[in-house]
Amino acid sequence: MQKKTVRDIEVKNKKVLMRIDFNVPRDKEGNITDDTRIKAALPTIKYLLDNKAKVILVSHLGRPKGQIDEALRLDKVAQRLSELLGQKVIKTDTTVGPEVEKIVEEMNFGEIVLLENVRFNSGETKNDLELAKALASLAEIYVNDAFGTTHRAHSSTAGVANFLPGVAGFLVEKELQVLGRILNNPARPFVAIIGGAKVSDKIGVIENLISKADTIIIGGGMANTFLKAQGYEMGKSLVEEEKVDLAKDLMEKAAQRGVEFLLPLDLVIADGIDNPGKIEIVEVSKLPTDKMALDIGPETIKLYNQGIKDAKTIVWNGPMGVFEKDEFATGTIQIAQGVAKSEAYSLVGGGDSVAAIKKAGLDKEIDHISTGGGASLEFLEGKELPGVSVLLEK
Ligand code: 3PG
Repeated sequence: MQKKTVRDIEVKNKKVLMRIDFNVPRDKEGNITDDTRIKAALPTIKYLLDNKAKVILVSHLGRPKGQIDEALRLDKVAQRLSELLGQKVIKTDTTVGPEVEKIVEEMNFGEIVLLENVRFNSGETKNDLELAKALASLAEIYVNDAFGTTHRAHSSTAGVANFLPGVAGFLVEKELQVLGRILNNPARPFVAIIGGAKVSDKIGVIENLISKADTIIIGGGMANTFLKAQGYEMGKSLVEEEKVDLAKDLMEKAAQRGVEFLLPLDLVIADGIDNPGKIEIVEVSKLPTDKMALDIGPETIKLYNQGIKDAKTIVWNGPMGVFEKDEFATGTIQIAQGVAKSEAYSLVGGGDSVAAIKKAGLDKEIDHISTGGGASLEFLEGKELPGVSVLLEK
């Protein structure tokens, strides 16, 4: 179902409440370390400003659990946005209430305000309709461009559309187009690379992709549970024992559908993550009982990159090993290089895989880096995104 966008509604001289996802990574001092999400919202913000709308931005930052957390105020975000826009960004100290109403009333059309962190309000994550109503009362139109938060049914992402006509911004439009095309009409072969620590986080996405992809490549800690399901002894490696049967089922389903399901042939092993001791490479059948798998080995990288080389569509979510540690980053980095080199249309989603691509300096080589980790995963699982379903249909 196609959703209306800012192009399908008159925004000229209108008060527009725009949900953006400015939940950006920060260092210990609260300085922004990656402003990708702020830049990603600029096209819609500029479009609204060019059309002389009053732009009222609402975002969360972190998980303050309904209370004011001084470290999670949005002042630095407002400052960065102002630098990027080359225009003043008014910043309020609360999200709703008389002070905010006054500021919005007095600001001019063509000006922009960023409301304080919406998660300082306890109602936000409960999709409280009173909060949604208070937010909606500030504006005439609701624009959702917070793709990274579309999987949350919160007051500012879903509830607010009970009171205002809701349309998508350009970022949400683009993310939905790309993800939708990949799921429904991928150029083949379609290769999905799924990594990360736990199978339990990715069951839904693997299940859904078994009915869509031609090859599924498994890496990261979750590969251990699949290897265990194949009968290998995994030593001290992270294995989700209670998911071993499910891993077997998933592999059987893949086999029934003729989907190639690739698992590691060899592993990089050590004593532990922080005190690795001697780091070795072993075949999956030769893992000593006192060692743990922390990355995929060179034969696996070769096998996986062969599959990646032949692909026409690639989706990647989750690292191949403990890539935060240089000793165990080779697998993830070499798979990133394989994806970057491939001529396939490539989509990378998920905080860790995006960080890995950036760490490898390869982000320019990827066709689409999703701004939503959880949201892109839920989309790939085939789930409805509450922040999208509330928007008007075309
Ligand atoms: C994200 O970073 O994935 C989004 O901003 C959503 O944040 P949340 O997981 O705290 O809801």
